[in-house]
Order: sequence, then C-alpha cells, then structure tokens
Amino acid sequence: MPLVVIVGLGWGDEGKGKIVDCMSEGASVVARFSGGANAGHTVHAGDMKLVLHQLPTGLLREGVTGIIGAGCVIDPVSLREEALLLEKLGVAAWQRLQVSPHAHLVHPCYRLEERADEESRGAAAIGTTLRGIGPAYVRKYGRRGLRVEDALRSRDFAEKSMAILSGFGSEAASSLRADVERFVEDSCAVASKAADISSMILRALAEGRLVLAEGAQGTLLDPDAGTYPYVTSGSCVSGAACSSLGIGPSRIDEVVGVVKAYATRVGSGPFPTELEGPLAEHIRRRGNEYGATTGRPRRCGWFDGPLSAYASRTNGCHWLAITLLDVLGGIDILKLSNGFDGSAPAFPLLGEGLSSLKPVYEDMQGWPEEIGGIRSWEELPEAARNYVIRVEALSGAPVRLVSTGPDRSEVIWRRS
Ligand code: GDP
Ligand code: IMO
Ligand code: MG
Repeated sequence: MPLVVIVGLGWGDEGKGKIVDCMSEGASVVARFSGGANAGHTVHAGDMKLVLHQLPTGLLREGVTGIIGAGCVIDPVSLREEALLLEKLGVAAWQRLQVSPHAHLVHPCYRLEERADEESRGAAAIGTTLRGIGPAYVRKYGRRGLRVEDALRSRDFAEKSMAILSGFGSEAASSLRADVERFVEDSCAVASKAADISSMILRALAEGRLVLAEGAQGTLLDPDAGTYPYVTSGSCVSGAACSSLGIGPSRIDEVVGVVKAYATRVGSGPFPTELEGPLAEHIRRRGNEYGATTGRPRRCGWFDGPLSAYASRTNGCHWLAITLLDVLGGIDILKLSNGFDGSAPAFPLLGEGLSSLKPVYEDMQGWPEEIGGIRSWEELPEAARNYVIRVEALSGAPVRLVSTGPDRSEVIWRRS
C-alpha cells in the first residue's frame, strides 16, 4: 500500500481536511507534516462538524494512528484541549497520537511577540493568525527553539521556559506566569508521546498499510514557493513531508493536490483573480468562506489557472481533488484565468511583482442545478463536467476526485 502526500495548491483552506478524511478510511497512519494551530481542517460527518487545528484529521477514523511531524510547531496547551474535545466525542485521539521529539513548541510569549511584529509592519502587516507560528519558526531556524524532546528533562525545561518569559519584561512576567506553567505541564504531556515516527511510518509501509501525509496551509503560502512575504513560516509543499516525517522522497507513491473550484485567501498579499462586490459576497456566503481558525471573512476570486499549474508542478502532483464545485452552481457565466496579460515573465512572479500582473480570463457556461447529492461523474450537469475538465487542463494534472458538498459522503471518484 502506498504513501500518499496530500497538499493544498492555493492559499490554504482548499478543503484538505475533507479530502484527508475521505481518504483516511482504511488508512493505518495519518501524519501532519507542516504548520501548527494556524491550520483549521474541517470535517462534516452527518450532524457532526469538527475543525481540527493540530491533530491529524485521520484520527477521526477508528484505528488510525496520528502523527505530528518534526516540521510542525506544537502549541501544547491547545493540542491537549483539542484532544480532550475529541475524547468527549468518543474519539480516543490522545491514545492514538505520536509526536516527533524534534517538533518545536510554541511558548505563550510568542503570541505577544507576533502581535508586536504585526503592529510594527503597519499597512504591510501579513495578517497572520496570531498563533505564535512565525516566532516559533524564527527561533527554530535561529537555533534557539524549544523542542518536544527538551520537555523530557522537565526541570531544565521549566527553567528555560520561565527564562523566555522574563525576557518579555515584568508586566508580561506577571500576567503570563500561569500560562507558562500550564505550557510547561502540557509540553511534558506532549513529550510523553514522543516516538521514532520515521520507523513507525516505514514499518507500516513494509506491512503493506496505507499511510497519508496531511499537509497544512497551501503552496502559495509556502515561504519558498509562495507569495513572499505574505506567506506562513513553515514549509508546506509536498517535499516538506520528507524532512518532517523522516522519509526519503523515493518512498512517496502519490502526491495529491487539493484545489478549490475558485480561489480564496485570508490575510494580506497579492491575489490576481480577486473579486469584490456582490459576486464575491455571493461566493463567500454559499461557500461559507470564513476562516476556520480566526473566523475572518475569506477573500474570494476566480480560479487561477497559471497559479494552479505552478502549484501542481511544484508539488509534483500525480492527481488533483477539486473541492467546493457545488458553490459555483447558479452562476451564469464562470470565469477562469488562463494566463497573464503581456509577455510571460522569465520566472514565476510571486512576490510583489505578482500584484502588477493582470489575469486574462476565459468564460465558461455555468449550471443552475444543485449538485450536492450527485454521486457519479456521469450524473453531473455537462457544464459542471466541462468546468472540471478545464481546471484539469489548466492545472496540468488529472482530477480524480470531485467534492460536491461539505459532508464526507459528498464526493465523486472519477474512474477514468
Ligand atoms: P482546509 O484548511 O484545507 O482543510 O479547509 P477548511 O476546512 O479551512 O475550509 C474548507 C471549507 O469548505 C470547510 O468549511 C469545509 O467544510 C468546506 N468544504 C469542503 N469541501 C466542500 C465542498 O465540496 N463543498 C462545500 N460546499 N463545502 C466544502
Ligand atoms: P489551513 O491548513 C489559510 C495564512 C494567514 C496569513 C499567513 C501567515 O487551514 O489551510 P501564520 O499565522 O501562519 O503566520 O499566517 O498565512 N494562513 C492560512 N490561511 N489556511 C491556513 O491553514 C493558514 N495558515 C496560515 O492567514 O495570511
Ligand atoms: Mg483551513
């Protein structure tokens, strides 16, 4: 059985949680390999709606072992709360969780630091989730971070954690003392979950089991591949699964790109196909486009062919899962960007240069029908099928899975 890496091709929130949940039926291991509590992965199963931030989505399936990789940054307090919430729903998430000892921990002071950094940027603020993600990665690469394995030496760890607090001045020291004590306690609990995750994954593969590597954020938020500086701080492309989980690239069997039928973004930064006005509001309402982590309204726009093709090749996608196709139902004419005005730039422009590019659109006929209950490709309205086929052509990879609603049952597998 294969190792399948699942990544987002846009600016996050492509519906990775839903796709991972669908694909994790029958999986043995599901491993999150990037980000932290900045993520929000939603799963709808009948009446139940759950948003997972740090736990691998696959844990919702009985018998699946969940892993958090070294490339993630862990907020131990909210991780334990999330696990507790699942326990209350009868999901033994904590019991089935293992963590890389090399993952970094998000100290409560990092949020303070991040808020100050965002404020200092003024109008050029990134619009982060304020979950302490940036400071955690800055410390990691500055070789001053706190890692899960450090919490195994609890006294030393408590001293280091308090020393970080003291660095923030006396006001923070008194208001955050209790938070830091809780951080130390919960970090120790997380450390009790430390395991040789690389060996676990390789063993599962040797036994012929299915292993999923669950990405967070999206390719256009990756610090190298994305719209820098308006990106997150941890690597979130498929290649990052290797370093985070301790598996070589030769072990990956499939890379799946999750792509929205249109585009969204939360936070600042260039967005060539962005829509404003009633149509943006219509898509936002129909797609419930409000951040799963911060509740912020998501910016909405047309499908961006060049960026999707770029993201697909950057990840080496074998195939794509297209999500939220149902949201476009009822719009007469759909637009897709298939290029940029003027001569093609010599290299992908993703920094500030992207803001100056003007997309070129083509029109496609929409479909009036609601497609939520449809279970087969043949039953989809012809216009919806044509739209998917066009997304496939513009992205340069086959679409094998079509998601037609938020529920885990609302998927169409294409056989050809
Ligand atoms: P993720 O971060 O990539 O896992 O995506 P989010 O969970 O943040 O955002 C995706 C949103 O779309 C969630 O509210 C999902 O429940 C919802 N969703 C996923 N697939 C579909 C779909 O095919 N149709 C509709 N209408 N909603 C979907
Ligand atoms: P999932 O996994 C959408 C965005 C933030 C901000 C930028 C940097 O649910 O797809 P950060 O807090 O990471 O330093 O913020 O990245 N961002 C996301 N946007 N979905 C996410 O995760 C995101 N994680 C971070 O909005 O623009
Ligand atoms: Mg999300």
